Amino acid sequence: MNILILGSGGREHAFAWKLSQSPLCSALFVAPGNAGTAQVATNLPIKFTDFPAIAKAVREHKIDLLIVGPEEPLVKGVVDYLRQQADLSELGIVGPDAEGAQLEGSKDFSKQFMVRYGVPTASSRTFTANTLADGLSFLETHSLPVVIKADGLAAGKGVIIAETIAEAKGALSDMLDGQKFGEAGSKAVIEQYLRGIELSVFVLTDGENYKILPEAKDYKRIGEDDTGPNTGGMGAVSPVVFANSSFMTKVEEKVVKPTLAGLKQEGIRYKGFIFIGLMKVNGEPYVIEYNARMGDPETEVVLPRIQTDFAELMIATANGELDQVTVQVSPQTAVTTVLVSGGYPETYETGKAISELERLEDVTAFHAGTTQKNGDVLTNGGRVLAITAQANSLENAVRKSQEAARMVQFDGKQYRRDIGLDLIRYSD
Ligand code: AMP
Ligand code: GLY
Repeated sequence: MNILILGSGGREHAFAWKLSQSPLCSALFVAPGNAGTAQVATNLPIKFTDFPAIAKAVREHKIDLLIVGPEEPLVKGVVDYLRQQADLSELGIVGPDAEGAQLEGSKDFSKQFMVRYGVPTASSRTFTANTLADGLSFLETHSLPVVIKADGLAAGKGVIIAETIAEAKGALSDMLDGQKFGEAGSKAVIEQYLRGIELSVFVLTDGENYKILPEAKDYKRIGEDDTGPNTGGMGAVSPVVFANSSFMTKVEEKVVKPTLAGLKQEGIRYKGFIFIGLMKVNGEPYVIEYNARMGDPETEVVLPRIQTDFAELMIATANGELDQVTVQVSPQTAVTTVLVSGGYPETYETGKAISELERLEDVTAFHAGTTQKNGDVLTNGGRVLAITAQANSLENAVRKSQEAARMVQFDGKQYRRDIGLDLIRYSD
């Protein structure tokens, strides 16, 4: 079977690494990929939003299965585009169509969806440029902090947690009037702040059946002890101690089942991953957001724990046969530490030589933002590498991942030294 993965980050390297271990996978391509995916697959120099070029690559390389990594092509309709190509009717695809991807592509859509199907979430209201005055007066009496979200995709930057009414009003005006987030901010959602602990839950569905994959905790802020600005993710851990079986039963009954029933009710045949960002508040799950894809860096700890042939799981998803597979999960703990470029998540430089990678033992270095030039591996993004270790205890997995993070060198390297430490200390 020939498989093509769209994307170029750590998530896609983890997909490629896992699929390359499957006897079902005969040829593996990543578009556009990075220096890490080049070790296990063939990179194709194609932008993941260039749909005609993707269709051409599918034909040329006789691709049987396409896995879409990032949200942008999904929300822009890559699946719809490929489904319109008469000669590609046999192509299996893991990833929802544009309608399904609205779960991530529009915060207003996903909020209304949650309300319609009784999925627990923070209470909210949506405003547009025309109703900005109503939004500003709504904020006058809102409890603090208050959360303001741009409706559309904003590369993780569209969420503002305001501590004062003045800050909240400024953020709402910037979004709706100042068009700070462009088209993504043509609507804004004002939402109640949830106080709790966050968890990433992953569902794989073929439109009919579903499997819940191992859960993970992401570390979003740049600084230790969750300080400083939000990033794409500075590390992740799986499993998560507070996601005990009674909590996960609540997640399945109160969140996963109504979400999938809602999709069916709306006539959306969703094939792919649903990443549910949850807050655990007083023992109860509340949905913060849906994503139409796997998380990054969560994939770098979730996939190493999956023992079932990953190609088999992906094929079953595309073919609507997920009821015929079981997902075997390793009891080991996986921890990933993300190495980022100096200055990230603000401006940073790229093109720095990365060394010592070959010295790493007993860890997997997933490439997030790297490129190859004249035999050297160079930094090529804000997030550069995600170094995953597995061990029988969280303490040992943390230690191994951190030791490797220390060892790898590039100019400006930054990483958090506290990944997983909160979970070692955690008590309910
Ligand atoms: P999002 O882009 O929706 O993932 O939001 C970014 C981050 O903002 C989330 O991971 C949370 O940490 C935080 N956040 C979003 N919505 C809320 C909320 N209603 N209450 C508390 N924190 C939130
Ligand atoms: N790690 C969060 C995300 O993938 O959006």
